[in-house]
Amino acid sequence: MPTAADPAGARVEPPAHERRVEGAARSVFSSVRVRITIAALLVVAVTLAVGGAGLVFLVHRSLVNNARSAVISEADNVGSVVAQGVVPTHLVVRVGTAVQVVNAKGQVLTSSGDLDRRGPVTTIRPPVGGRMILATTGELPGDDDADTTVAVTVSSPKGPLTVYAVSSGEATENSTHLLGFFLALGLPFVLLISGLAAWILAGRALRPVESIRAEVADISGRDLNRRVPEPPIDDEIGRLARTMNAMLARLEASTDRQRQFVSDASHELRSPLAALLAQVEVARAHPERADWEAVSDVVAAEGSRLERIIDELLLLARSDEGQLEAGTEPVDLDELVFGEAQRLSAVTDIAVDLHGVTAGRVTGDTEQLRRVVRNLADNAARHARSTVAFEVGHHDGVVELAVSDDGPGIPPDQRLRVFERFARLDEARDRPGGGTGLGLAIVGEIVQAHGGSVMVTDAAPGARFEVELPAYPD
Ligand SMILES: Nc1ncnc2c1ncn2[C@@H]1O[C@H](COP(=O)(O)OP(=O)(O)OP(=O)(O)O)[C@@H](O)[C@H]1O
Ligand SMILES: [Mg+2]
Repeated sequence: MPTAADPAGARVEPPAHERRVEGAARSVFSSVRVRITIAALLVVAVTLAVGGAGLVFLVHRSLVNNARSAVISEADNVGSVVAQGVVPTHLVVRVGTAVQVVNAKGQVLTSSGDLDRRGPVTTIRPPVGGRMILATTGELPGDDDADTTVAVTVSSPKGPLTVYAVSSGEATENSTHLLGFFLALGLPFVLLISGLAAWILAGRALRPVESIRAEVADISGRDLNRRVPEPPIDDEIGRLARTMNAMLARLEASTDRQRQFVSDASHELRSPLAALLAQVEVARAHPERADWEAVSDVVAAEGSRLERIIDELLLLARSDEGQLEAGTEPVDLDELVFGEAQRLSAVTDIAVDLHGVTAGRVTGDTEQLRRVVRNLADNAARHARSTVAFEVGHHDGVVELAVSDDGPGIPPDQRLRVFERFARLDEARDRPGGGTGLGLAIVGEIVQAHGGSVMVTDAAPGARFEVELPAYPD
């Protein structure tokens, strides 16, 4: 298998997950900053386009209405002047309107602006005193841009006179076009400013994310003590950084525990191995003087010690992988206690008190639970002055096992520590009769796998270990 150190010069490629990240980074749209900027530009563009079109429409409508009112009042004004028999040669009217005064014979008496003096703009005449707003002359029916003609007929000393006032839609058109032109000119500018603002703001908001990413990319398994920079604000990014740091702290603690475990385990394995090898080597150096029986005793003792440690380490490893299954068989804890008590009586001269043992059936794995009882019994026997007492009781769906001794007890501040792996309170006691400090760690793991709990209290004097396990349902 080619590796980074492959002497054959095989190409060393980054792990698959890193390659994927690199490949994705090539697309412009993979940048959140780019996506935010594009989204902001789209929103601003659509808002401006819709808003601009609405504005042009409203302004146009209002201009058309104004022009219409202007042309009506123009017709009325001129009408009231000519009604007195005065027909001015020069009519002064508002910009954008034109007026024509026509007599009953259809002759144009006067007009303003560009209106033709030769003939009337239309032959339609309202009756005297009446006013008509004539249909616009736009290209399409109802086209507001077109001219509006207002006809007013008044009676005058010169007979009935009709005033035609025409508004030119051109002024309205021009104003509307001008507004449209300025809006169209301003739109790209506003877009540019908004795009720039979105780009800068997104960049600023995402800067901590980039520094977090760069820091995490740089953190290897060896420097888990490093932390990502935490922005001072408690926003999503601040929380992300804090969560990440908490995760790094957990990883660091777990890696430290693993390292400590490996180093302690190696140390524990080396001692019996060294003792064993030393015996064998001395004997081999002087085979003729060697006491081979004594050597084989040491080899057997240290060998079984090694086997026990390896067995315990394997159990703990299985538990760490979540593979320590509790089992579902009914196990009589009282029977396990009687068995262990018998064993203790056979191998030690410690008195065993079984008065408090009553029936107690739990759900679990017999071998694992035997191990719990044995580890507690061994500890108690090792530390007891004269007596070890067992109790088994059953109440409210819980079976309680207590193992007490009349030894030195465990100081309150050490009662949690004794359940840690390789924890030994009295190091001097540990060799050669002592254990590896795994017994209670194993008790803890097995009890936990069975859904129970274990704690240390005072037996006054001595230590008292109390285990609670769910009872086997009857
Ligand atoms: N009944 C007890 N009285 C006083 N101290 C105890 C008692 N039980 C355990 N301890 C202390 O807790 C430590 C851890 O116990 P544990 O059973 O885990 O390890 P060990 O007995 O030293 O080794 P092992 O059980 O692996 O052979 C012991 O070394 C001892 O100092
Ligand atoms: Mg022990």
